[in-house]
Amino acid sequence: MSGYFLYHSIGTFPGKAEALRGALGRFADDWSAENDAQWPTMLSLRARFIETWAGLIDAPAGSLTTTESVTAGLYALIGALPRERLAGRRVLVAADGFPSLHFLLQGLAPRFGFTLDTVPLRPGERWVRDEDMLAAWGPDVGLALLTFVTSTASHRCDMGALAAHGREMGSLTVADVTQGIGIRPFSVADGAIDAVVSTSLKWLCGVSGAGVLQVRPDLLATCRPEFRGWFSQENPFSWDLDAFRFAPDARRFDQGTPSILPAAGSLPGLDHIRSLGLRTVAAQNARLTERIVAMADEAGLPLASPREADRRGGSVMLNLGDAAAGLVGPLRARGLFCDARGPVLRLSPGLVTQEADVDRLFSAFEDLGARRAAA
Ligand SMILES: Cc1ncc(COP(=O)(O)O)c(C=O)c1O
Repeated sequence: MSGYFLYHSIGTFPGKAEALRGALGRFADDWSAENDAQWPTMLSLRARFIETWAGLIDAPAGSLTTTESVTAGLYALIGALPRERLAGRRVLVAADGFPSLHFLLQGLAPRFGFTLDTVPLRPGERWVRDEDMLAAWGPDVGLALLTFVTSTASHRCDMGALAAHGREMGSLTVADVTQGIGIRPFSVADGAIDAVVSTSLKWLCGVSGAGVLQVRPDLLATCRPEFRGWFSQENPFSWDLDAFRFAPDARRFDQGTPSILPAAGSLPGLDHIRSLGLRTVAAQNARLTERIVAMADEAGLPLASPREADRRGGSVMLNLGDAAAGLVGPLRARGLFCDARGPVLRLSPGLVTQEADVDRLFSAFEDLGARRAAA
C-alpha cells in the first residue's frame, strides 16, 4: 500500500530509491576519481540523457538539449528567435497554461515587442477549450504556447489539430509537455511542432533540474541565443575572443559548464518508464483513474477534469470548493498524499499506487465529510 497520488508533482516507481542511490553513487565515484576521466564520463552520461529524451519524442538527432527548468527552456528559445518572429505580433497562451511561463512571457513582452494574449477560461469551466484557442489564433500570432496536459485539470489538448492550425497561420507552435510526457503518447516526428519544453520529474520519475528544450532543425538553424557561452560552440575550447561561432545543433542553446547531476538522477526514471513501455504505464494508470472517476460519481464529488479518458492526462482532479485545501492535511495523516490548487484537489495515481489506495482515499473522503464540506 502506498497512498501516493502526486505524480503531477514528483513521479516515482517501485525500487526508485535503490536505483537512484546506485546512479548517484556511480556519479560520486566517477566525479571523485583522481584521474582525468571525469568530464568524458560525465558528458557521455549527459549525452545518454539527451538521447533518451530524443528517443521519447522522436526528436531528430542534435535538436534537443538540457535546461534547468521549463521556464528556462522557454526563455532560451524566446531569446534566440529571429526578432521579426515576435516583434509586433501576438504571443498566444491559454489561461490554464503553467503560471511560471506566463510570468516569463509577461516580463519579456515589452523587450521583444510582442503582445501577450491570454485565452480565458469560460465562466465556471476548469480548462481552456481547444476551440477557444483556435478562435483566438489568427495570422498575427507569432508564437503559440500549448500545454499538452494542464496541471490544474489534466485536460489534454488536441495537439495535432492545434499545431496544424498553427502551420496554416504561419505561427510558431511551442508545446509544454511536462504533464503529459511519460503517460501519454507525444511525438515531434511529423514536424508540426516547432519547439518542445519539458522537465523530467513528473511522470518520467526523474529529479528537478532535468529540463529539456527541443527545436525543429530548420528553425534551430535560424536561432541565435542571447544567453550563450563557451558551451554554445561546436568546440567549447575555442577561446579566440573574435571567433565565437554557434554550434550547428541544439548545443547552441547551452551556455556555461553543463550540469550533470539532474541527468544522472533522472536516467533511472527515464530508463524505467522506457523499459516498461508507455502502453503498460498508461494502462496501469487508466485502471486507477477509471476507479477514481467511478467512485467520485458514486460519492457525488464533482470532477474538475474532462470525463472522457482520452481528453485527460494521467490525473483526475476533483472540484471540492472551499474544502479542497483543508482536506490535504487530514488525508496526509491517513497516509494519503495529494495536493490542492484553489478548489481543485489533484489526484495523480501512478506505478506505486494501487486500487486499494483509491478505495482508502474515498473512504477517507466519506469520513472527512468531503461532500458536505464541498457543497
Ligand atoms: C504544465 C507544467 N509546465 C511546467 C511546469 C514546471 O515548470 P518549471 O520547470 O519551470 O518549474 C509544471 C510543473 O508543475 C507544469 O505542470
